[in-house]
Amino acid sequence: MSKGQQWDVVSGVGITALAVAAARAVETGRPDALIEDPYARGFVGAARAPVKLPTTPAEAEAADGRGYWAQVSTYIAVRTRAFDDYFRQAAEAGVTQAVLLASGLDTRAFRLPWPERTVVYEIDQPLVLDFKLTVLREHGATAGGVHRPVGADLREDWPAALEAAGFDRARPTAWLAEGLLPYLPSEAEESLFHEIHRLSAPGSRLAVEAIGNIPGALADTAANGSVRTLGVDLADLIHTGQRPAPADRLTNLGWNVRTVPATETAAEHGRPLSPAFVERDARYVFADRPPRAIASSAMSSVIRPPV
Ligand SMILES: C[S@@+](CC[C@H](N)C(=O)[O-])C[C@H]1O[C@@H](n2cnc3c(N)ncnc32)[C@H](O)[C@@H]1O
Repeated sequence: MSKGQQWDVVSGVGITALAVAAARAVETGRPDALIEDPYARGFVGAARAPVKLPTTPAEAEAADGRGYWAQVSTYIAVRTRAFDDYFRQAAEAGVTQAVLLASGLDTRAFRLPWPERTVVYEIDQPLVLDFKLTVLREHGATAGGVHRPVGADLREDWPAALEAAGFDRARPTAWLAEGLLPYLPSEAEESLFHEIHRLSAPGSRLAVEAIGNIPGALADTAANGSVRTLGVDLADLIHTGQRPAPADRLTNLGWNVRTVPATETAAEHGRPLSPAFVERDARYVFADRPPRAIASSAMSSVIRPPV
């Protein structure tokens, strides 16, 4: 999609948000579900998707007869759970500001037990957020903390929109970039990391989903016919050019970084990924910006070297 062009949940990259919601609805229907998203099914029901998306394990099984949707919903469940836990830990550590970049139809603002004074910002295209809030209102959903949706394009001046909505750069923040990076052109991705860094007070943290093998992911969705299964050709949406790994970018910016392979998280939960998803080499990158070091000039005024 070219800059300035908007999309909703049934067009362009917006359809991927609906597909993720379908996967979360399927997972929610499992007896051993890793996450429970009571709103996911409602999104799929309310949208006029170009293809029928499953919302139950039985529908996922019947959708293509090849188990593709079951694989997708397992991966999305593992990913969602990993980042749910990240936000729970951030809240326990006293972080009271969260920003979900490209939040799509993510309902964490409504599902997670945010401490009351936490402010949760969600950035995505205005039409995607409008659709989400309309459906959530119809279902009587209420946010745990203070919920602030910000309609903006992440290839443009989203920091200005975020600050206009009340974002406080002096306050430590828990950021999330989940299901986003492959859809951004490389210059927008580079700028995203720099802007996050610029807006992050010491003590901030960031979680990122990084896909190590994007050509492999595309080959798999092509083999499974993304036009047939999702209603969109993912090859038209995904940027395949080489770019620095998110973990390296963050290390260079001075953040402490820990990378967890998705296969490890999946195994921990007893829900191994299918070979096609192992091949994608997804990693969950967790980083934190250390508290500011005492500047050396300040130190020298306090600690006097021996003469
Ligand atoms: C795969 S979905 C992931 C949504 C959500 N993070 C989740 O995991 O449920 C990708 C999302 O990225 C959003 N997105 C992609 N490029 C964007 C951009 N340039 N500006 C704003 N949102 C964007 C889409 O609208 C969509 O909601």
